[in-house]
Amino acid sequence: MDLIAALESLAPELEKGLARASTLDALEELRVEFLGRKGRLARIMGELPALAPAERPAAGQAANRVKTRCNELFAVRKAAIEAGREAGLLSRFDPSMPGRAFWRGSLHPTTLVMNEVCGIFQGLGFDIASGPEVEIDHYNFEALNMPPEHPARDMQDTLYITESVLMRTHTSPVQVRTMLATRPPLAVVAPGKVYRRDSDLTHTPMFHQIEGLMVDEGISMAHLRGTLTAFVRAVFGADTRVRFRPSFFPFTEPSAEVDISCCMCGGKGHVGSEPCRVCKGTGWVEILGCGMVDPAVFEAVDYPPEVSGFAFGLGVERIAMLKYGIGDLRMFFENDVRFLAQFGQGA
Ligand code: DAH
Repeated sequence: MDLIAALESLAPELEKGLARASTLDALEELRVEFLGRKGRLARIMGELPALAPAERPAAGQAANRVKTRCNELFAVRKAAIEAGREAGLLSRFDPSMPGRAFWRGSLHPTTLVMNEVCGIFQGLGFDIASGPEVEIDHYNFEALNMPPEHPARDMQDTLYITESVLMRTHTSPVQVRTMLATRPPLAVVAPGKVYRRDSDLTHTPMFHQIEGLMVDEGISMAHLRGTLTAFVRAVFGADTRVRFRPSFFPFTEPSAEVDISCCMCGGKGHVGSEPCRVCKGTGWVEILGCGMVDPAVFEAVDYPPEVSGFAFGLGVERIAMLKYGIGDLRMFFENDVRFLAQFGQGA
């Protein structure tokens, strides 16, 4: 019977077509051609009414068989194409290849030291205070016992904005601001940027300081000495020796500078037979200035005469240079990633 023979030739022909179809799009084209509404199967079945009624059931059954067979052939081919695609992807993906390195940020050594120092003083009960970088003359100089004609003003080359407004030259004005805002007792540290008209190998126009201030009745030089010794040993190690050398600051009386035994040569003054570069052979390095708050400063902030206090100021970059053995101040400001990356992971 022609119609059944025509039906039965469909599957083998589809098989040949499928063997050439290598994409899902080609597969779809074949599906439309063979099984679509106006496809080859549909056209053959369009002739069914022409058959004698007795022959129709056999033809109908043959049509169903062919349809099922064609669907199977499509499914098998589709699975093969998809598997091939995956294999293609796999051949381009090498799981053993080293991954792309990704850069992890790290804190700047200045920030690390600032955090560490403030953390140590917070542990001793100090609060954190702050003040503006653009400051008025009165807080930066005058209230700190440096009247306009005071020679100490020449020691600091100041960046003036107007005659009475300037970039603060130290963090000491935060002492004044804190005392004006708070009654004693108080203990604060104030980290921040300071500015001076200075630029050479060992000076930058901006650097960081941390100011300290403790005020109460009965605060003495012994408190100052004990506090700063504890601080120094926390930063530089328990074996570090500390010495207080008389000095002068207008806002403290008496005043001192604090030296520590050189962390490069261990205080010996030499490395092998060479004089130590860091302490220049002396075995000591200066790390901060301090003293007992001058009564003139208390007067400027209207504190009662019964209180006493100590203050100190330190350079953050200087501490970082000593702590990490950094030989050149410019490293802090050049943003060289090779330098900065060495302080990652809480170095
Ligand atoms: N302000 C001083 C400076 O910038 C540092 C300093 C010295 C601060 C002694 C103090 C202090 O509080 O008591 O050079």
